[in-house]
Amino acid sequence: MAIIKKFRIKSFKKKNTILKLQNISLSFEKRPILENISFEINQGEIFGMLGPNGVGKSTIFNLVTGLIKPNSGEIIIRDEKVNDYPIFMRTAKFKIGYVPQYGGYFYDLTLFENLKAVAEILIKDQRNRAEKINYLVSKFDLSQIRDIKAKFLSGGQKKKLVIAMALLGDPELLLLDECFAALDVMTIKMLQQIIVNLQYENNITICICDHQARDLLSCVDVAMVLSEGKVIAKGTPTELIKNQNAKTAYFGDSFKFN
Ligand SMILES: Nc1ncnc2c1ncn2[C@@H]1O[C@H](COP(=O)(O)OP(=O)(O)O)[C@@H](O)[C@H]1O
Ligand SMILES: [Mg+2]
Repeated sequence: MAIIKKFRIKSFKKKNTILKLQNISLSFEKRPILENISFEINQGEIFGMLGPNGVGKSTIFNLVTGLIKPNSGEIIIRDEKVNDYPIFMRTAKFKIGYVPQYGGYFYDLTLFENLKAVAEILIKDQRNRAEKINYLVSKFDLSQIRDIKAKFLSGGQKKKLVIAMALLGDPELLLLDECFAALDVMTIKMLQQIIVNLQYENNITICICDHQARDLLSCVDVAMVLSEGKVIAKGTPTELIKNQNAKTAYFGDSFKFN
């Protein structure tokens, strides 16, 4: 798989933390899922979360959006502790877009109707609304399929739709949960290009997770590896694949990148 990202952010002139999780722990019933997780995402970067199925990646997104609360630790968005903020306040105040692992669209509405339904909530001015929908339809090359019901779209088309829906609110931080899962190689490449372009052209900070290392590493600036509830490694893709902890617990010895 070719590297999609040609330039990786190595350092920041002025580092601006957009999201910070500090010592987050969470158990479901009595089963510990996340243990003392800390990480931060800087404005402008594409940050990856890697780890096997069931390690807690979607749970971290749920904590950020406010669907669930941690047992301990702080969730900080742009210097504000948001643990007690409800979902709508986090997404609206801090402009967070979220693309869930599954679904995220209305099955029986067409692609266009899906966009319109969300735009009617998010964009008050009718002309702006139409402009924004047209912009996204053209940006993601969706005009040929705009009148097809969402349930009949291909996997890649559905992902493009849900990403477009998340962009209607002009997010500053976009959370993408396993958006490459169950897609073919060419579709994955197309989505990777879309993600990198959102960073370059629209200046959106992106947090993306996947259980597959290769697809994720080719489009992130930095990433962390989760294993058994803990962050076991953080760094650029090149640093991560050399990291002995990450090799032992996640990549294995034969993993090669490029
Ligand atoms: N609402 C819930 N109630 C109980 N257990 C849950 C709940 N949500 C997730 N889990 C459990 O937490 C663990 C992490 O899940 P998840 O975050 O979905 O993993 P990942 O996204 O990394 O595959 C899994 O063992 C899962 O079964
Ligand atoms: Mg998940």
